[in-house]
Amino acid sequence: MTKMKQKLRLGIIGAGSVVREIYQYLYFRSAYSPLLEIAAVADPNDEYRNWFGDLAHLPADRRFSDYREMLRRLELDAVQVNTPDHLHCTPAVDALQAGLDVVVPKPAAARVKDAHAMIQAARAANRFLGVDFHKREDPRIKEAEARYQSGRYGIFQAAVFYMLDKQMVADPNHEPRFFASPDFAARNTPVSFLTVHMADALIKIVNLVPVQVRARGFAHKLPALKPIGVQGYDLVDTEVEFSTGAVAHILTGWALPNSAWSTTVQSSRIICSEGLLDLGLDTPGLREIHADGVTEVNPLFRNFEKDKSVTGYGISSPGRMYQRILDRQNGKLTAADQASDLTPMALGFYTTVVLEGAERSLSNGETNGCGATLGTSVDLRELLVGELGPAASQEYLPQNS
Ligand SMILES: NC(=O)c1ccc[n+]([C@@H]2O[C@H](COP(=O)([O-])OP(=O)(O)OC[C@H]3O[C@@H](n4cnc5c(N)ncnc54)[C@H](O)[C@@H]3O)[C@@H](O)[C@H]2O)c1
Repeated sequence: MTKMKQKLRLGIIGAGSVVREIYQYLYFRSAYSPLLEIAAVADPNDEYRNWFGDLAHLPADRRFSDYREMLRRLELDAVQVNTPDHLHCTPAVDALQAGLDVVVPKPAAARVKDAHAMIQAARAANRFLGVDFHKREDPRIKEAEARYQSGRYGIFQAAVFYMLDKQMVADPNHEPRFFASPDFAARNTPVSFLTVHMADALIKIVNLVPVQVRARGFAHKLPALKPIGVQGYDLVDTEVEFSTGAVAHILTGWALPNSAWSTTVQSSRIICSEGLLDLGLDTPGLREIHADGVTEVNPLFRNFEKDKSVTGYGISSPGRMYQRILDRQNGKLTAADQASDLTPMALGFYTTVVLEGAERSLSNGETNGCGATLGTSVDLRELLVGELGPAASQEYLPQNS
């Protein structure tokens, strides 16, 4: 009998702020840490590579500035690709083609072409690909999904979601800087960083395909920051229409005053023919009054326990993917299980469609003299056919289109 693998040899590609905020706890202080041997890191940024290398006690020959060198030199079981969204595709595809399983943080990619290439590469290589949309593991979202899909609320009609970060997240003048790359907020938008969380949660709950998007952006605060201004949006309203005619407005931004009651102020209402769901996402029940201010603490996301371990859905979401990879590599998953991991819905493909649609809407929109950009309507079926061609886009189009 072949010996069961107990641990995955994991290579880390990119060790910036998502690793600092979330994944370092997964790798070293969680119930999933015993499944993982952090075998190497690759990051061209010396400071972040060495910060992580020291944390993981990695010798110099396991710290790479080029991930391709890491893939060539070491024997690994899996990699986690923590690079910026527009750089997920190439390392993920290279690793899949090298026979490794791959986990990426949300979203799968910034462009549908990239997300499609990643899905195709995983299927062709017969490897696991997982996208860590941690909200999918939030017990409130899971409960909402199960209740909605039981038919309890009838037909989904309309929803409003909002997710607003404190300004410090996007402000390059804030010390310490939130993102590893100084131009992160200029290169990304509230849509790429925040809307994707909410779009993905809603698509998961109602299990519908989005067909049209229109976005509207406001740029008042960020361009006026001093001494470094950010050419980007404070707030974006993304209107998403689904194949049934249902509509959602997803309001996201990163210019809320730093006195906000949590790093991310967020909530949602989902209105259906037979009832309404009210998701008080930023009021999880632990409010602190302290000299630092009044803060809503969300231990559901990240719970720093007395014994120094860290739990919460921010950890269990990627952790469960590594458990899945280990099961898969130990031959415990059927072909049907493996195929179910690679469906467009499982990989958040439609979330990337919304993201690309919203960014296209804004870039084709008109900016008025009041700091508002009024985006155009983007037909997502046309976007898919235009980007992937008529044959490849078929798999992703709603059946009635
Ligand atoms: N910051 C968060 O809290 C958070 C939360 C959820 C998801 N994410 C997602 O995580 C991903 C990374 O975001 P971030 O916030 O950590 O960005 P970041 O800019 O802080 O860090 C990105 C890191 O990737 C490195 N990198 C760039 N190109 C590379 C390459 N070719 N090979 C190896 N490393 C490379 C950079 O040097 C940097 O250290 C994005 O997809 C983002 O949407 C971030």
